[in-house]
Amino acid sequence: MHAELLPYWYPIARSEDVREGPVSVSLLETDLVLYRSGQDIVVAADRCPHRGMRLSLGQHREGALVCPYHGLAFGQEGRCVHIPAHPHLTPSQQFRLSTYPAVERYGLVWTSLGASPSPFPELSSDWDDPAFRKVTPDPVPIAASAGRQVEGFIDVAHFAHVHTTTFADPANTAVPTYAVQVDEDGLRFDYCSTVSNYAVGSGMTAEGFVWRRSFDVRLPYLAHLTVHFPNGRLNILNGASPVASDRSVLFSPVCFDFEIGTDEAVKDFNARIFAEDRLMVENQQPRHLPLEAAEASFAADLASVYYRRLLRQMGLSTA
Ligand code: FES
Ligand SMILES: [Fe+2]
Repeated sequence: MHAELLPYWYPIARSEDVREGPVSVSLLETDLVLYRSGQDIVVAADRCPHRGMRLSLGQHREGALVCPYHGLAFGQEGRCVHIPAHPHLTPSQQFRLSTYPAVERYGLVWTSLGASPSPFPELSSDWDDPAFRKVTPDPVPIAASAGRQVEGFIDVAHFAHVHTTTFADPANTAVPTYAVQVDEDGLRFDYCSTVSNYAVGSGMTAEGFVWRRSFDVRLPYLAHLTVHFPNGRLNILNGASPVASDRSVLFSPVCFDFEIGTDEAVKDFNARIFAEDRLMVENQQPRHLPLEAAEASFAADLASVYYRRLLRQMGLSTA
């Protein structure tokens, strides 16, 4: 995959899914192992420097990760601290395990594979506000690139066609014009329309209300949406984690300051919306965004046209 992608921060797990025992994830074609050790989360290459064994099959014992094959133990910074076959030897640097930084924010664990990571993305302060309830749905594996997924999330022309069983009205197809503001780290736009965000069949209506959706897109694969409801705000973080050029995992925590329902109801509604999106995203050809070959666009695609341009400016040919 493109080296340009390495410095950025990507979500790799939900905080609640990382406990003491090692778990494996993949990011940018790199297999990683992660585990919780006291206050810290350790992220390392899921490959033992001795014979290439998958360390996620090993055990976390007293702050060290122990390989299942010959029992080498690695401390939190990746230094090999014990070789059972030679118990009195101080292991050399050759046995050092590559480790990566870990940050816990927005209910997720993030890492960066770059030698000098880019600044961590700071999103809406609502995430730090105790008045906002947070719900973190299950991660969703997607058989398409992270770029395709993010572009689908910021697409405002598909609601009436794709989200008809969840929130959209099939008759409300026209897309009002909107403007996009481009910065060096991404793009922002407000989309105002009469497309309601209330669940189909809920009986909730807001006659004459104009729904404002504020999008904040950070390169390369992070998008944040604030939906302004009549009685509060709903924030959706759309973090597409690039597993490989044709595979991604979607993390989509939400936070809101008004009554929506139980955590399970929120997760269920979110899962139904993303299932509708996933059917589209997994059936686009090719499975990545073709940044050099032109696909036809219309005016409502403005955000996606800018998004592709920014990805191209990063030096990517596909995303
Ligand atoms: S392969 Fe890990 S200890 Fe030998
Ligand atoms: Fe959608």
